[in-house]
Amino acid sequence: MPFNFAILGVGGFIAPRHLQSIRDTGNRLVAAGDPHDAVGILDKYAFDVKFFTEFERFDRHLEKLKRGPAESRVHWVSVCTPNYLHDAHVRLALRIGANAICEKPLVISPWNLDQLQALEQETGGRVNTVLQLRVHPSLVALREKLQQEQGRRHKVELTYVTARGAWYLTSWKGDLDRAGGVAANIGIHFFDLLPWLFGSVRRRGIHLSTRTRMSGFLELERADVSWFLSVEAADLPFAATPGKTSTYRSITVDGSEVEFSDGFADLHTRVYERTLAGQGFGIDDARPSIELAYALQNDPVTAPGDLAHPQLLKRP
Ligand SMILES: NC(=O)c1ccc[n+]([C@@H]2O[C@H](COP(=O)([O-])OP(=O)(O)OC[C@H]3O[C@@H](n4cnc5c(N)ncnc54)[C@H](O)[C@@H]3O)[C@@H](O)[C@H]2O)c1
Repeated sequence: MPFNFAILGVGGFIAPRHLQSIRDTGNRLVAAGDPHDAVGILDKYAFDVKFFTEFERFDRHLEKLKRGPAESRVHWVSVCTPNYLHDAHVRLALRIGANAICEKPLVISPWNLDQLQALEQETGGRVNTVLQLRVHPSLVALREKLQQEQGRRHKVELTYVTARGAWYLTSWKGDLDRAGGVAANIGIHFFDLLPWLFGSVRRRGIHLSTRTRMSGFLELERADVSWFLSVEAADLPFAATPGKTSTYRSITVDGSEVEFSDGFADLHTRVYERTLAGQGFGIDDARPSIELAYALQNDPVTAPGDLAHPQLLKRP
C-alpha cells in the first residue's frame, strides 16, 4: 500500500524535488502547506491535495486524518521550510503519528536534536534528513576506495561556490538566525561528507567568516582539509551568467580532482528510497555535521595562516 505524504514549504525552491520523489517512489501526496499560495506546481502531481496557507489549519487537518480511517492517515511529512522552522515542523509530524523527512540542516542549533530524539522515543516516529551527497555514486565509490586504504593520511582541498544574487542577503537564507550562516546553510553537505569520508574532526580553524564566504581548515582522522565556501559570483572560476550554471564544486584528494559534477538529478529520490526502506539518515547521522557547522559559525578558532585555502590568496 502506498504511503500518504504531507508536505510543508511546498511553494519553495526545493519542494519540487520532494514532490517528484514522493511520486517516483510510488507514494501519494494528500496535503500541503505554505503561507505563500503560488503552488500551481501541485497540479503536476495530483488534483486532490488539500492545501493550507495557515499552519494551524494544516495541523488540524492532519490531526483529523489521524483520527479517521486508517487508510487516510498521514504516514510521512516532508519538511521543506526555512531552516529555523524545521524542528517545529518535525515535531508536528511526530505528534500526528507520522515520520518526518526533513531538508538539511535538520536543525541549526545542536541541542534541538536532543528534543527531537526524545520525541522519537515518546512517539515511536522516525526523523530522517536529506544528506544526498552520501548517495552520490562517485562519492560512494570514493568512500569505498578510501576505506581500503585505512591509515593513510590525505591532503584535501574543498571549494564550493554557489553564486546567489542580491536577494540572498534580504531573504531568510542570508539571516544568521533563520538559516544558520554559510556553514549551516551552504556548507552542511560538505561538513557531513568530509568526516564520512575521512573520519571525525580533531581540530578546526577559520581563516575567513562573513555573511557570504567562509574558509578554514579541518584536521580529520585521515585528512587535512582546507575548505572555501562562497555565495559570491566573483569567486566562480568562470564568468557568472544568469540562466547558466552558477555553481562550482571541487574536491581534490592528494592533488587529484574527484569527479562528481554530474549525477545530482535523482539524489532526492535515492534518499527517499533509502528512507522508506528504513535505511534513512537519522538524527545520529546528522549530529556531527550540525555540531561542526554550529561550532565553525559561533565558536571560531583562528587557523594558522599556512593552512589557508588557495582561493584566499587570490583575493585582494
Ligand atoms: N538538499 C539540498 O540540496 C537543498 C537545496 C536547497 C535548499 N535546501 C533546504 O530546503 C529548505 C527549503 O529551502 P528552499 O530553497 O526551498 O527555500 P524557499 O525559501 O525557496 O522555500 C521555503 C518555503 O517555505 C515556506 N514557508 C515559510 N514558512 C513556512 C511555514 N511556517 N509553514 C509552511 N511553509 C513555510 C515559504 O513560503 C517557501 O515557499 C531549507 O531547509 C534549505 O536549507 C536543501
